[in-house]
Amino acid sequence: MNYEFHNPVLVEKVLDLLITNPGGVYVDATIGGGGHSERIFKKLLPTGKLIGIDADEDAVVFSRKRFGERVSIYNCNFSNLSDLLSDLKISNIDGILFDLGISSYQIDNAEKGFSFSKEGILDMRFDKNQALNARYVINNYKESELTRLFKLYGEEKFSSKISKEIIKQRKYKSIDTTTELSNIIKNVVNKKFINKTLARIFQALRIEVNQELDVLKKGLIDAINLLKVNGRIVVISYHSLEDRIVKNIFKTSAEQKLVKILTKKPIIPDEDEIKFNPRSRSAKLRAAEKILNIKTLANVQ
Ligand SMILES: C[S@@+](CC[C@H](N)C(=O)[O-])C[C@H]1O[C@@H](n2cnc3c(N)ncnc32)[C@H](O)[C@@H]1O
Repeated sequence: MNYEFHNPVLVEKVLDLLITNPGGVYVDATIGGGGHSERIFKKLLPTGKLIGIDADEDAVVFSRKRFGERVSIYNCNFSNLSDLLSDLKISNIDGILFDLGISSYQIDNAEKGFSFSKEGILDMRFDKNQALNARYVINNYKESELTRLFKLYGEEKFSSKISKEIIKQRKYKSIDTTTELSNIIKNVVNKKFINKTLARIFQALRIEVNQELDVLKKGLIDAINLLKVNGRIVVISYHSLEDRIVKNIFKTSAEQKLVKILTKKPIIPDEDEIKFNPRSRSAKLRAAEKILNIKTLANVQ
C-alpha cells in the first residue's frame, strides 16, 4: 500500500484549528493512511490521546501498523461515533477531524472499484461486510431510481439517458466491472463531456452504496454533541453535496448557540498545495468551536 506517498490536505490549517488542548482527547474520524493523524499526534502531549476511525479495514490494518500503540484505531463507521466512545467510556472530546471521501490509495486500488479509469469489479464499499455494492445498484435498481440518484448525487444532466442505456444493456448481460459501466456511459454521452460525466456517475454510485450523506449528517451531529466546551470540529469536504451538509449543520448549531463558526468562508488550498497535491483541488475546510455544553442538536436537514 502506498498511503505514505500521499500528503494530507491543508494540514497546517487543520492543526491550528483543531488542537486547543494538547493534553486532551482527539478523534481522527477518517484516519485513512494516517497522514493527518501523524501530524496531530506529534502536537499532543504524552497525556493526550488520539483515537482513529476508518470504515475501511485495509486503512485500519495499515494505520495500526504505522502507529502501533501510539494511536487507538477502530474499524467502524463514523456514524457510530457515540456508541464507540461510550464503549470506550469517553464522555466528551477536545477535537475531531473529518477528512471526507476516499483516499488516494482507495482510488488507485482497482479492486475497490471506485475509479472509472481502472478496471475492477463495481464494488465501492468502504466496509466489505456491508451487503449493498455498486454492482447490485447498477443491475437491480429501477430506471427511475437510477435516474434519481444520478441527478441527486451526481448532479448529472444526462442522467435519464444514461439510466435508459444501463437498463437496455443489462438485459443482455449483467454489468460487473468499472470498464463495462464506463463503456455503456460512453455509448450515450458526447466525448466532450465524458470524463466529467463519468466522475459524476461514479460519485453518485459511491454516495448511494455508502449512504454517505446520511452517514455524514449523523457523524457531524454526534461529533458536535460530544465536543467539550472550547472543543473544535474540523471538516474537509471534496464536493458540493458534502460541503452543503457541513455548512448547514454548522449554521443550525450556531443558531442554537451550540457552536461558534471559525471559518466564515471555507478555507481552500493555495496554488502551491494544489500543485504539490492535485487531489486537494476541490477541498473545502470548515471549522467550528463548541460554546455551550448541552446535547440538543438533532434532525438537521
Ligand atoms: C480522504 S481519506 C482520509 C485520509 C487521511 N486524512 C490521511 O491523511 O491519510 C478518507 C478516509 O475516510 C474513510 N471513510 C469514509 N467515510 C467513512 C465513514 N463514514 N466512516 C469511517 N470512515 C470513513 C475512507 O475509508 C478513507 O480511508
